[in-house]
Amino acid sequence: MSTTPLRALPLETLRRRSSTKWRTYPEDVLPLFVAETDYPLAPAVTAVLAEAVASGDTGYTPADPGIRDAFAGFARRRFGWDVDPAGVRSTADVMMGVVEILRATIRPGDGVVIMPPVYPPFALCTDEAGGIPVSVPLTDTGAGWEIDLDGVDAALAAGARAILLCNPHNPTGTVHSAATLAALAGLAERHGAVVISDEIHAPLVADGVVYTPFLTAGASAARVGFAVTSASKAYNLAGLKCALMVAADDATMRVLAGLNPEVEWRTGLFGALAAVAAFDEASDEWLDALRAALAENRALLGALLAEHLPRAVYRTPDAGYLAWIDLSAYNWGDDPAAFLLDAAKVALHHGPQFGAEGAGYARLNFGCSPEVLTEAIARIGAVARS
Ligand SMILES: Cc1ncc(COP(=O)(O)O)c(C=O)c1O
Repeated sequence: MSTTPLRALPLETLRRRSSTKWRTYPEDVLPLFVAETDYPLAPAVTAVLAEAVASGDTGYTPADPGIRDAFAGFARRRFGWDVDPAGVRSTADVMMGVVEILRATIRPGDGVVIMPPVYPPFALCTDEAGGIPVSVPLTDTGAGWEIDLDGVDAALAAGARAILLCNPHNPTGTVHSAATLAALAGLAERHGAVVISDEIHAPLVADGVVYTPFLTAGASAARVGFAVTSASKAYNLAGLKCALMVAADDATMRVLAGLNPEVEWRTGLFGALAAVAAFDEASDEWLDALRAALAENRALLGALLAEHLPRAVYRTPDAGYLAWIDLSAYNWGDDPAAFLLDAAKVALHHGPQFGAEGAGYARLNFGCSPEVLTEAIARIGAVARS
């Protein structure tokens, strides 16, 4: 990519931040755990938030703050996806969108398919919505991960009524193929289930990887699917509370329109303002600079692991800034992150929290400077050699 990579902020600036990433551990720990990034905000986001603060624009979010059209424009430019703004509703965050769509589409006690290793709130939010998580682990092909379509079919045949899809998948970084998504949609339709597709990492798909928005993966997908997404991962806006639920069919649009009005009312005004600025074409250059920085870090991480932790297994993710690393060869127990926090003063995310498949793994966030990434892996390497 010819774009100049975005540079992460220096540690002394980052340590002034008050978010989870910077307030959970003492200063001698390098935080590479929670999915926040270390870059400066996109200029259009900074400008709109600065203006809102200057004018005291801190009231309630209006009915349509412009996010529907902004997201439709973004989806068309970036993914070739024609989104009907009438099928878009907002809420506070992606996981709230997942919970509310589940509440509207399943009955208490229904099974909900999740595909571990997967972002831990998928199970927690299923519980919150009154569903029962049914694990159908991703299949490890030896070169990557794939959805176990036969396993999903069996879970649906046994009564599960919803599938929580993660595309791109957290923590493996897998971008599912159009054929897999179409097959998944067909299974859901045959069994009368819905698919809720969390696409929050989609703006960060790597060059050369084909990402298919679930709702575009064929006629069945459009009928059974809901997409839930946000600008918050790519643009580091998680604290501002704005996410989008998208439907592409009359029946699924009616489900979104029928949600309790409180669901949309909870959209944060700063989140909505920032999302409109982020999804605007003016921010595309910043997004591409971020993607260039992440492409460099994906490759750098591979080189650092080869040098300092040659027995670690790392597959370059198709998207995003999260790496799923198998550290089991080092015998640091089921939860290497717990061991390395003390031993290396590096905070990684705990593999077992992503499901039983995560034993011996840790998730590393490389949305940081190359210097911080280098120091973190060198610290862990020193522990491995000691
Ligand atoms: C796949 C996935 N979904 C949802 C979220 C959280 O999004 P939100 O804060 O909008 O609920 C994350 C955060 O890392 C994530 O990785």
